[in-house]
Amino acid sequence: MSDQGTMKRDANDYLTYYNASGKVRTFSGIQPSGEVHIGNYLGAISNWVKFLDDYDCFFCIVDHHATTIAYDPARMPARVFDAAVANIAAGLDPERCVIFVQSEVPEHTELAWVFNTVTPFGDLSRMTQFKQKSQQHEENINVGLFTYPVLQAADILLYKASAVPVGEDQVQHIELAREIARKFNTRYGDVFPECQAHLTPAKRIMGLDGENKMSKSLGNTIGLLEEPESIWKKLGPAKTDERRKRKTDPGVPEDCNVYTSYHSYFSSPEDLSWIQEGCTTAGIGCLQCKKRLFKNMLAVLDPIREKATGLRARPDFVHEVLSAGAERCRGIAAEVIEEARTAMGLHRNRV
Ligand code: TRP
Repeated sequence: MSDQGTMKRDANDYLTYYNASGKVRTFSGIQPSGEVHIGNYLGAISNWVKFLDDYDCFFCIVDHHATTIAYDPARMPARVFDAAVANIAAGLDPERCVIFVQSEVPEHTELAWVFNTVTPFGDLSRMTQFKQKSQQHEENINVGLFTYPVLQAADILLYKASAVPVGEDQVQHIELAREIARKFNTRYGDVFPECQAHLTPAKRIMGLDGENKMSKSLGNTIGLLEEPESIWKKLGPAKTDERRKRKTDPGVPEDCNVYTSYHSYFSSPEDLSWIQEGCTTAGIGCLQCKKRLFKNMLAVLDPIREKATGLRARPDFVHEVLSAGAERCRGIAAEVIEEARTAMGLHRNRV
C-alpha cells in the first residue's frame, strides 16, 4: 500500500504534510488511565470528534507511555480495552478514523530511538510534565519518563501528522516534537512535518471539589460512563457559591463551580439565563439548579453510556477495530521509517 502525499508550507509557513487525498493528518494520544471522566470528554474527546470530517484522523492508545509509571501488568489489557470502548462510545467513529494501540506498531519505538539522537538533553530537562511526574513518582524516575516526549514526537511524526489536538498541558511537548522534526530535517532532509498543537476550546475542567482539575488520582471525577444514580450522589453535595448558605441567599453563578465547570458545557443558553436570573435573585435553590444540570448531563451521557454497553457486549468488534487500526498504521509506519532510514544512510545495500 502506498500512502504518498506531499509536503508543503501552510499559511503560517509550517512544513505540513497532505495525504494522497489532500487532507492534513491529525494525531492524538489517549492514556489508558482506567477511568475516562467528563473532564477527558469535554477537554479532549469532544474536540477530536470535530476533526473527523475534515482531517485524516489517527487516535492512539499509548500503552508504552503508560508503562513509564509503575503498574500491574494483569490490569493493562482491561485498561486498554476500556479506553477503546469509552472513546469509541464518545464519538471516535471507527468508520471515520483510525484507532489503535501504540505497542502494536513497533515502529513507534524505533522512530523514538532515531529522535533520541536529535533531541537536545537540555530541552528534555525543561519539560514541566517530567518535573511533575518525577516529583510524584520519586521511587521510579526512569529514563523512559525522561524521554517520554521523544516517544510522543515519534507517535505524531510516524504518520506525518501536522495537526495535534491536545489540552494546554501538552503544548510544550508538541512544540518539542516540532523542534525534533526540524532538527531531523536539517540534518537529513525534509522527511517530517512541523506539527502544531490545536488547542481544545474547553479550558481545564475542574473536579467536584472546585479546587483542582478533574483527575482520577484526586477522586473528584464524574465518570463518562458512570451510572446516573451514582452521578447524582456526587452532584447533590457538590460545592456551590459559598454565599448561598440558605436558599434565600442570592448567589453569583460565575463563582459557582457547578455553573462554570458543568452547566456552561452541558446546558442550553436558555437554561443558563434561567440560572443567572434565579441564582442572583434567590429565585431558585442550588438543588433545583443541580437537578437541571443532572437532566442536561444525562441527555449527553445516556447515549454514550448505552453505546459503551453495546460495545462491551461485542468485545470481538472492539478488538477487530483495534487490529484493523494497527494494520493500517503498520503500513504507513513501514513506509515512513523506510524514508527516514534512507535519509539517514542506514542502508547497507545502497552503498
Ligand atoms: N502525553 C499525552 C498525554 O499525557 C498522550 C500522548 C502520547 C499524546 N502521545 C501523543 C498526545 C501524541 C498527542 C500526540 O495526554
